[in-house]
Amino acid sequence: MARSVADAAAILTIISGRDPLDNFTFAQPPVVPDFSKALKPNGLKGVRLGVPRLFQGSDKNIIAAFNASIEIIRGLGATVVDPAEFPDAEEILASNNETIVLDTDFKVDVKNYISGLLKVPTGVTDLADLIAFNIAHADEELIPPFYTDQSEFIESENTTVDAAYFAALAADKDLGQTRGIDGTLKKFNLDAILLPSDGFTTGPAAIAGYPIVTVPLGFQPDNVTATAANPVIENAPGLPFGLAFMGTAFSEFDLITYAFAYEQATHTRLKRLAFPAAIPKTQLQDVIGK
Ligand SMILES: *[C@@H]1O[C@H](CO)[C@@H](O)[C@H](O)[C@H]1NC(C)=O
Ligand SMILES: *[C@@H]1O[C@H](CO)[C@@H](O)[C@H](O)[C@H]1NC(C)=O
Ligand SMILES: *[C@@H]1O[C@H](CO)[C@@H](O)[C@H](O)[C@H]1NC(C)=O
Ligand SMILES: *[C@@H]1O[C@H](CO)[C@@H](O)[C@H](O)[C@H]1NC(C)=O
Ligand SMILES: *[C@@H]1O[C@H](CO)[C@@H](O)[C@H](O)[C@H]1NC(C)=O
Repeated sequence: MARSVADAAAILTIISGRDPLDNFTFAQPPVVPDFSKALKPNGLKGVRLGVPRLFQGSDKNIIAAFNASIEIIRGLGATVVDPAEFPDAEEILASNNETIVLDTDFKVDVKNYISGLLKVPTGVTDLADLIAFNIAHADEELIPPFYTDQSEFIESENTTVDAAYFAALAADKDLGQTRGIDGTLKKFNLDAILLPSDGFTTGPAAIAGYPIVTVPLGFQPDNVTATAANPVIENAPGLPFGLAFMGTAFSEFDLITYAFAYEQATHTRLKRLAFPAAIPKTQLQDVIGK
């Protein structure tokens, strides 16, 4: 979402903190750190990282680049425990609790979001209205071949905030936090967990509600075959992929330190530039630096 770890740290410093309209944020520490103070080039020295191979995915090019990154990280003075599997990995991979929480939250939050707008020209007030609006304006909103059935919206509309939702939320905390990320950090005495951004990387962090930071790891070679758009193009020549660091609650400062040290040692982003029209010309400091 940002071009560099430094940019991401600057943005995070501004957007972090307690929000009176979002009581999930009340759990945050009262003082937001200046995350730009985490940008230390030798930030991986003496750090212990674990590699949960069961979540790394199956792409050979990505795994080869990931393996090479582990050697770079060791070269920067970190200890890498490989493998360091989540004790509950099979349960996390089999669980559907995330979908229940996601579908239910989406319906509730879309309604909350719309109700907070000053003006809604379409007159929609919630997800049911939105689905109906899309059907009434199908020529503009439901464009073939991909976006015609609204199946994910309909699945979300079908949910209620009920006992099953709260059970799924509790299961996610147990799977992602207690027996997941925290359990793994403790079992292997780790500071953070390392994964490539393919595979089931964001899953444990998402169900735990814990931080994760991703930096450029590599690019698919020119001789891979591009897959059909379905609607996402899963693979193509030059497709970038990342290296993710995840940790416990409120470990953002440390994760930024690790990600920055790796980024500065590799500068992978610069190894394959975007086509000229896609290269941004406005820097963050042009907007907020003053
Ligand atoms: C969070 O906000 C919701 C909606 O405003 C409210 O129903 C709920 O009681 C609040 N929870 C806490 C812990 O403040
Ligand atoms: C990556 O490293 C693991 C663990 O050392 C090894 O089992 C695997 O064969 C390696 N894979 C590739 C593609 O290099
Ligand atoms: C939620 O997770 C628990 C714990 O692993 C599991 O027993 C349960 O089957 C899961 N529920 C769903 C709907 O996947
Ligand atoms: C809606 O939920 C019910 C019960 O929870 C289920 O039987 C039905 O298949 C769901 N329908 C859709 C469209 O998801
Ligand atoms: C793609 O190129 C690499 C060298 O860059 C080579 O090792 C690999 O075998 C090639 N793969 C295919 C499918 O041609």
